[in-house]
Amino acid sequence: MSAIEPTRAAPAEPDALPWEYAPAPESRDIVTIAPEYGLFIDGEFRPAAGGATFATVNPASEERLAEVAEAGPADVDAAVAAARRAYDRIWGPMPGAERAKYLYRIARVLQERAREFAVLESLDNGKPIRESRDVDIPLAAAHFFYHAGWADKLEYAGFGPDPRPLGVAGQVIPWNFPLLMAAWKLAPALAAGNTCVLKPAETTPLTALLLAEVCQQIGLPAGVVNVLTGAGETGAALVGHPDVDKVAFTGSTEVGKQIAEAAAGTRKKLTLELGGKAANIVFDDAPVEQAIEGIVNGIFFNQGHVCCAGSRLLVQESVADIVVERLQRRLTTLRLGDPLDKNTDIGAINSRQQLDKINELSAAGDAEGARRWSPPCPLPERGYWFPPTLFTGVSQSYRIAREEIFGPVLSVLTFRTPEEAVAKANNTPYGLSAGIWTDKGSRILWMAQRMRAGVVWANTYNRFDPASPFGGYQESGFGREGGRHGLEAYLDV
Ligand code: NAI
Ligand code: MG
Repeated sequence: MSAIEPTRAAPAEPDALPWEYAPAPESRDIVTIAPEYGLFIDGEFRPAAGGATFATVNPASEERLAEVAEAGPADVDAAVAAARRAYDRIWGPMPGAERAKYLYRIARVLQERAREFAVLESLDNGKPIRESRDVDIPLAAAHFFYHAGWADKLEYAGFGPDPRPLGVAGQVIPWNFPLLMAAWKLAPALAAGNTCVLKPAETTPLTALLLAEVCQQIGLPAGVVNVLTGAGETGAALVGHPDVDKVAFTGSTEVGKQIAEAAAGTRKKLTLELGGKAANIVFDDAPVEQAIEGIVNGIFFNQGHVCCAGSRLLVQESVADIVVERLQRRLTTLRLGDPLDKNTDIGAINSRQQLDKINELSAAGDAEGARRWSPPCPLPERGYWFPPTLFTGVSQSYRIAREEIFGPVLSVLTFRTPEEAVAKANNTPYGLSAGIWTDKGSRILWMAQRMRAGVVWANTYNRFDPASPFGGYQESGFGREGGRHGLEAYLDV
């Protein structure tokens, strides 16, 4: 096992910045948060039939943001029935060119109201405003634009002359990219002519509810999109509903397996986008500074709450010391704190539960003998926080090398030959993504052919585009989202 020796002398502590940024918070007045939110069913907001509610909090301050309706079985019935009516009477029969107009309108309003969405996303999720503003919201709009373009061209998508929609889609999404995951689910489904019942995650319901308001604003026919807030029980009731034709889920592998079992033997079409434990592989001929930026982006983007995060750094032994040293220097410049401050790089961990999981797995790393390092990084007193963290001296058998941590924690392993890199990268039950850093084009192709991963990035990481299919192998799930391939999941082909 060619791991970095934990006993090796630590590099000199990298210098802190000689100056400070002035605080630059985005205004939170741009968004109005109601004290209470209802369920969005058949074009209207209404309380849950049983009257249940739950709170959503700002993970950076633990402040309660709003009280949100919790959908029970009667609400799931009502939402699925509304989606069925809208499918049969309006959306199913509507020509694609007409459906496209609604999708374009949603995309344009997302752009017009982008600041509002970005601030709300950062408040509810804890992610830095720089990311919600520059990544989440623009990409969500891009997904609606892209799929609007497909709505009247489905007969050219390669699925025969007249591909038909499936009917009612039940869609359950996670908390790491709340609005973006809603866009990934809704845009292709609607473009293909399906109607939708969407269940956002219980810790991040607010931008999906604002998107429901946008559906009202642009005059989307009632019942085409329904939003049911609630937790796992609501999600289970939705995906198990007998009148749902298509189930799409993004979240943990554990819940994905339960859903696959529940859907087995029914006529429901299913796609699952689950966890990952991606290898980001750095060869000795890689441009080091570029690779460092890619490693940082790969694991510290969105606090590491990313299914395709590059959470295992595989670095060639001959450059391991220099890469780790430069990485430590770079991590010292990352700023952790107020998600609404435009200078912030690392925001809050989304929930107490997720913070507990990150702490538990990091403690397992300590116990198994890996060496933990974090830059000097004072954590705010309130809220859920975890500093950017590196583990060196990691063996493949350690839990931090095998299990998805879903936090700002990078495990560093080494390799000597390309064959060893391939064997280690593929030594995982997952298979969502991988990164390759090398100057040699032939090596990129050689490696990419051997990676058991749905997405392989070369000399870059965490690049997303609505035209590019995204999805996994093995325990990372099946089916693709985005591109022509993503349409297939919403068509009867
Ligand atoms: P989760 O899988 O429980 O939650 C994802 C969504 O599924 C939420 O909307 C939740 O309400 C819903 N859900 C929960 N149980 C359900 C059920 N039985 N039937 C239908 N829907 C259900 O994930 P959780 O607990 O938030 O996170 C746990 C771990 O899962 C994380 O630490 C991370 O490792 C992984 N994860 C991976 C994600 C990814 O993008 N691949 C996203 C979120 C979590
Ligand atoms: Mg929240």
